[in-house]
Amino acid sequence: MPIETQRLILTGDLVQDAPLIEQAGAVIRAGGLVAFPTETVYGLGADALNPDAVRRIFEAKERPAWDPLIVHGADLEQLRLLVQELPPVAETLAQAFMPGPLTLVLPKSERVPDIVTAGRPTVAVRIPAHPVAQALIRASGTPIAAPSANRFGRPSPTNADHVMADLAGRIELVLDAGPTPVGVESTVLDLTTQPPTVLRPGGISREAIEQLIGHVCLLGEALPGGQPLPAPGTSPRHYAPRVPMLLCPPEPAAFVQAVQDALNLYERVGAMTPEGWQVPHSQRVVSYEWGVWRDWQVLAKRLFEGMRWLEQQAVQAIVCPLPPAEQLALTIRDRLLRAAHPPL
Ligand code: TXA
Ligand code: MG
Repeated sequence: MPIETQRLILTGDLVQDAPLIEQAGAVIRAGGLVAFPTETVYGLGADALNPDAVRRIFEAKERPAWDPLIVHGADLEQLRLLVQELPPVAETLAQAFMPGPLTLVLPKSERVPDIVTAGRPTVAVRIPAHPVAQALIRASGTPIAAPSANRFGRPSPTNADHVMADLAGRIELVLDAGPTPVGVESTVLDLTTQPPTVLRPGGISREAIEQLIGHVCLLGEALPGGQPLPAPGTSPRHYAPRVPMLLCPPEPAAFVQAVQDALNLYERVGAMTPEGWQVPHSQRVVSYEWGVWRDWQVLAKRLFEGMRWLEQQAVQAIVCPLPPAEQLALTIRDRLLRAAHPPL
């Protein structure tokens, strides 16, 4: 049975927005589902300590039960209750990067229900930096379990329209605070391995983490060829639009050629076009003005929006240059390789 999804439009003034965030907090306390902005992407939140509420997240997203959720706290004290202990390296990372787009995987405490961690002995925790996320967690009075607020496998939502497109009729509430500033998900860092392992590159770069705590491993990127899944949620196909993604070397000439080649195969072709790069003159090409090449912050922020926008223009394939494996570009590259992976 579909439920009516209420969309609450926030002003950005926390005093003025307080009653709406209170209302959302009450929904969380009552076991309901609230989509809310974080600095990375919109999350689909439920009371992390209520297994029935968490079960509804999996249903709404059609997410497989083996893929564990991130638990969001308002501060380090709240995170401390979710893990067995915060090792010194976690404190160091927290001081530098929290609140912010970094998620830590640590042995879980008894309080965290098994459904949240998909039965694992570890839990992923983070402190979101978005003021609305912070206010919602405080208003709820409980840590909030939240995956990205998209249907499983789809590009993550970076605005409330994306959330509504995927989840309207399945959740109680969306807090609409406009587009999210980072645009790609948090970096997931497993602290139970020695050295720590980046399970998912994200908003905080591997280089920035290594500057602080020394060498960390990176799980092999999901290249076509179907390696075994080394960790939950690292499926080689993910974040994908409904149409094929065609990746090309990051040079203007290769990009024009790739769009040209696509025009021979598809009637209508989308292009994620860096500023100043050309696409072939054709009514059959739809171009998304992505941003200045190498301005990874802007390209990350606009990545999922571009995929979803082009999909709406009824293109049959999307051509996109592939960024290098460094800094925030690595995160964009990771998402694109997964989006381009053929259906499993
Ligand atoms: O930026 C973000 O991280 C967003 C916002 C909403 O916070 N959340 C997000 O959640 O991207 P989700 O569920 O889409 O991705 C969480 C990732 C998944 O790849 C999941 O497998 C991994 O974190 N994960 C969660 N708990 C884990 C655990 N105990 N061990 C290993 N990986 C874990
Ligand atoms: Mg997700």
